[in-house]
Amino acid sequence: MKVAILISGRGSNMERLVESCKTNNKSASVELVFSNNAEASGLSFAKNNGIETSVIDHRIYEKREDFDHELDKKLRENNIDFICNAGFMRILSEDFVNNWFNKQINIHPSLLPDFKGLDVHKRVIESKTNISGCTVHLVRAGVDEGPIIGQISTKVETNDNEEILSIKVLKLEHILYPVCLKLFSDNLIQINEDKIIYSKEAIDQLDEINARLGK
Ligand code: GAR
Repeated sequence: MKVAILISGRGSNMERLVESCKTNNKSASVELVFSNNAEASGLSFAKNNGIETSVIDHRIYEKREDFDHELDKKLRENNIDFICNAGFMRILSEDFVNNWFNKQINIHPSLLPDFKGLDVHKRVIESKTNISGCTVHLVRAGVDEGPIIGQISTKVETNDNEEILSIKVLKLEHILYPVCLKLFSDNLIQINEDKIIYSKEAIDQLDEINARLGK
């Protein structure tokens, strides 16, 4: 499966996906790292790892659809089969989302459907909830919407601040995202309407995360 990873900044999740595709996930290969931001620091990791990179600055397009059209073109030029959004901070138009229906996943640093959008950890801390985590989900037209593939939770301790919580959750993201991508590239899940049907191997692989984390 030829994968494109979309980033807007640091790209630490992208790094984990690339590493996993070079080691334990031979059914997927990262063919393109794309960013809407030329300054995205993750781009250099991709280049240093011999991965094709591409930047299209969204600010030069008046309409969201025009940027999305160029992105779509770039993905098709590179024969991409599947997209992973990894800290890609752009809302994608409905047409784009529909063109890549069930072929695009996203990672979000909360237990969706709670805390969609920005400033997640700040809002989690302020809410005084004692549980947070991360989610990988299929992309649908609404922001951070779509059928959930996998989640990992963590306790929010009373003395956690935004920074501590973001570090804790990011570590979990780095574990969850490669496993979820592998579920797709190994054909271990099926999607019926918006329902995810997990094979036994898929369930085992998701369970194994909890075992690894001692949960
Ligand atoms: C990650 O925490 C990811 O979950 C979040 O941006 C960060 C990117 O970090 N994404 C979203 O909030 C999307 N709604 P990274 O660039 O180091 O992977």
